Amino acid sequence: MKHIYIKNSYASNMQWLVVTVCLYAGLANARTEEDQSLAANSSGASGAFYDQCFYRPASDCPEAKDCHCKRISDVNDNPEHNAILCCNVNNATLEQGLSCTGTNNTVTHIHIRNATIDTIFADDKRWRSLKSLAITDGSVKHVKEQFMMMTPLVCLNLSNNGLVDIADNSLNRLNQLTTLDLSNNKLLDLPNLNSIKDRVFWLDIAGTDTIWCQNIYEYINKTVQKQIKFNREPETVCSTNKTWHWFNTTEHLWLSQLRYINSLQPDCPKGDSWQCKCDVNRLDIVLGKTPMLTVTVDCSSIQLSELPQKLPRNTTSLNVSDNNITVLDDLSNNPYYEDIRVFLADNNKISSINKLEGSKFLDNYDMLSLRFNKIKTLPGYILAPYTHGKTFSSNRHVMLGGNKLHCDCNTAKSVKVWLQTRIMDYDEVLCENVREKVIDLEQARMCVYPGDWTDYIYYIIALEIILLFSLVAKVSYDYWVFKTAGYLPWPANKMPKLPCDWLCET
Ligand SMILES: *[C@@H]1O[C@H](CO)[C@@H](O)[C@H](O)[C@H]1NC(C)=O
Ligand SMILES: *[C@@H]1O[C@H](CO)[C@@H](O)[C@H](O)[C@H]1NC(C)=O
Ligand SMILES: *[C@@H]1O[C@H](CO)[C@@H](O)[C@H](O)[C@H]1NC(C)=O
Ligand SMILES: *[C@@H]1O[C@H](CO)[C@@H](O)[C@H](O)[C@H]1NC(C)=O
Ligand SMILES: *[C@@H]1O[C@H](CO)[C@@H](O)[C@H](O)[C@H]1NC(C)=O
Ligand SMILES: *[C@@H]1O[C@H](CO)[C@@H](O)[C@H](O)[C@H]1NC(C)=O
Ligand SMILES: *[C@@H]1O[C@H](CO)[C@@H](O)[C@H](O)[C@H]1NC(C)=O
Ligand SMILES: *[C@@H]1O[C@H](CO)[C@@H](O)[C@H](O)[C@H]1NC(C)=O
Ligand SMILES: *[C@@H]1O[C@H](CO)[C@@H](O)[C@H](O)[C@H]1NC(C)=O
Ligand SMILES: *[C@@H]1O[C@H](CO)[C@@H](O)[C@H](O)[C@H]1NC(C)=O
Ligand SMILES: *[C@@H]1O[C@H](CO)[C@@H](O)[C@H](O)[C@H]1NC(C)=O
Repeated sequence: MKHIYIKNSYASNMQWLVVTVCLYAGLANARTEEDQSLAANSSGASGAFYDQCFYRPASDCPEAKDCHCKRISDVNDNPEHNAILCCNVNNATLEQGLSCTGTNNTVTHIHIRNATIDTIFADDKRWRSLKSLAITDGSVKHVKEQFMMMTPLVCLNLSNNGLVDIADNSLNRLNQLTTLDLSNNKLLDLPNLNSIKDRVFWLDIAGTDTIWCQNIYEYINKTVQKQIKFNREPETVCSTNKTWHWFNTTEHLWLSQLRYINSLQPDCPKGDSWQCKCDVNRLDIVLGKTPMLTVTVDCSSIQLSELPQKLPRNTTSLNVSDNNITVLDDLSNNPYYEDIRVFLADNNKISSINKLEGSKFLDNYDMLSLRFNKIKTLPGYILAPYTHGKTFSSNRHVMLGGNKLHCDCNTAKSVKVWLQTRIMDYDEVLCENVREKVIDLEQARMCVYPGDWTDYIYYIIALEIILLFSLVAKVSYDYWVFKTAGYLPWPANKMPKLPCDWLCET
C-alpha cells in the first residue's frame, strides 16, 4: 500500500490528474475529481485507493501563544487549498483559534492535534465544506449528530482520542468518504457504513480492540456489495464476548479469523432441500497461544436419511439429531469425518454401532450421543474405556438412553454393569422384550428361570423312573398273586375285558 500526503498529491502534474480523472470517470462529478486527486493515491492493479488525511506532526504546531491555529500555505502552492493546523485546544480555544487565522469558509483541510473536547458535533457548520478532517492525538469522547448534506469530506481521521462512541448515523450523508481512521480508540461499535456501497472504502481500526467482532463481521460477511478494506488488517483485532454464539469467552480475535468464519459458508453441507449450519469454535489448546479454530456443523432436523458426504475442514463437532439416518458408515470411513470429536445423532433410526469398531473416531472421540435410536445390541468390546493419548480430555461421554435393547440373562449379567461404567444416561436404556430399564434388570430373575427349568427335567426323569419301577413291581406282584392265589388283585380284576384279553386267558 502506498500513500502520499496531500502536499505531494497536489502537484500540478497533469498526467496524474488525467489518470485520476480516468479512474473516476463515470463515478465522480467535475468537482470531486479534483477532491479525490487531493487525497488519493492508487495502489496499483487492484484499483484500490488508500487516502491519507491532511496531517501535520506536532513539530509544525503554531508557536504563537495567542492563537492555537495556523494556516498551512505551502501545500503545493495551490491558492485554493486552505489548510489549517490547530494544536492543544479545547472547545473555547478552538473557536478562537479558527477565527484568529483569519480564514473564511473556503478552508478545505483541517488537522486538530491534541484537542481536549468531550463531544464533537458532526453537524457543526465548520465542517461543512471540508474535504479532509483530522482530529487526532487528543481526547475526544463522543461524536454526535450527522455530518451535513453535501459535505465533500473524503477523509476523516479520528485516530488516537480515546473515543468511546460515534453516533450510528453520523456518516450516512458523506457520499464521498473513502477513508475513515478510527484507530487507537475505545469504540465498542462502528458507525453505520451501509451507505458506502459504490466505492472502495478504507477503514482503519487497528488498536481499537474494543469493537465487537459481530459488528465488524457484518461488513466482512457481505459478498455481493463492495467490501470494506481494512488498513493494517494484520494488526487488527476485535472483541468477542460470551453472547456471540461461537466464541465462549471475552477475547480478541484476528480479522483473519473472522474471514475464516466467512469462508466456511460455501463448504457447509447442503443439498437441494436442506442446508446445514456451520459455525466456528475456538479451541484454546495452549493457553496464551493463538487459538485454533474448529468447525461445528449442525445438520439437525433437516430430514436427512444419510450422513452428509462432505464437511468443512477441521470439523470437530457434528449434530445430525432428529433425522432419519440409519447407518454410521461415514463416521468410520469418510476422510471428511476424521477430525470429529463430538458426534450427536439423537432421534434417528440407527440400528447398530458395530461399524464403528476400529475406527479413528473411537480413538479420538469426546462425545457420542445416540439417544432414541434403534440399537438392539451393544458389543461390549466397542466403546472401550479411554486408555491412551493426552491431547483430549479423558472424560468420554456416551449417551444411549431411549434405545431398546434385547434383554436376556447376559444383558442383566454384563451389559448392565457395562452401561453403568461407560454410559452417562445408563438409567434411560430400556429393554425391548421386557418392560423394564436395563438398569433395573435383576440377574436373579433373568437368569434363574432357565436354570430352574433344567432342574425340573431331572425331577421328571426321576419321577418317571420311580413310576416305571413301581409299575414293574406291581405287575410282577399281580402276576405272582395270580399264579399262587389264582385271582387278580385290585385294580386288575376291576378292569373291563379288552379284545386282546384272550391272549392272557390260558
Ligand atoms: C503513490 O504515491 C507514491 C509516493 O508515496 C508514488 O511514488 C506513486 O507514484 C503514487 N502512485 C500513483 C499511481 O500516483
Ligand atoms: C490519522 O492520524 C494518525 C495519527 O494519530 C496517523 O498516524 C494516521 O496515519 C492518520 N490516518 C490517516 C488516514 O490519515
Ligand atoms: C495537550 O493540550 C493540553 C492543553 O489543552 C496541554 O496541557 C498538553 O500538554 C498537551 N499535550 C501534548 C502532548 O502536547
Ligand atoms: C463548543 O463550542 C461551540 C462553538 O462555539 C458551541 O456551539 C458549543 O456549545 C460548545 N460546546 C461545549 C460543550 O462547550
Ligand atoms: C478567504 O480567505 C483567503 C485568505 O485569507 C482569501 O484569499 C480569500 O479571498 C477569502 N475568500 C473569501 C470568499 O472571503
Ligand atoms: C452472513 O451471511 C449469510 C449469508 O450470506 C447470512 O445467512 C448470515 O446471517 C450472515 N451472518 C451475519 C452475522 O451477518
Ligand atoms: C456481548 O456483545 C453484545 C453485542 O455484540 C452485547 O449486546 C452484549 O451485551 C454483550 N454481552 C456481554 C455479557 O458483555
Ligand atoms: C465456556 O466457558 C465456561 C466458563 O466461562 C465453561 O464452563 C465452559 O465449559 C466453556 N464452554 C466451552 C465449549 O468451552
Ligand atoms: C485445522 O486443523 C489443523 C490441525 O488439525 C491445524 O493445524 C489448522 O491450523 C486448523 N486450521 C485452522 C484454520 O484453525
Ligand atoms: C443438536 O440438535 C438438536 C436438535 O436440533 C438440539 O436439540 C441439540 O441441542 C443440539 N445439540 C447441540 C449440542 O447443539
Ligand atoms: C423419516 O422418514 C419417514 C418416511 O420414511 C417420514 O415420514 C418422516 O417424516 C421422516 N422423519 C424425519 C425426522 O425426517
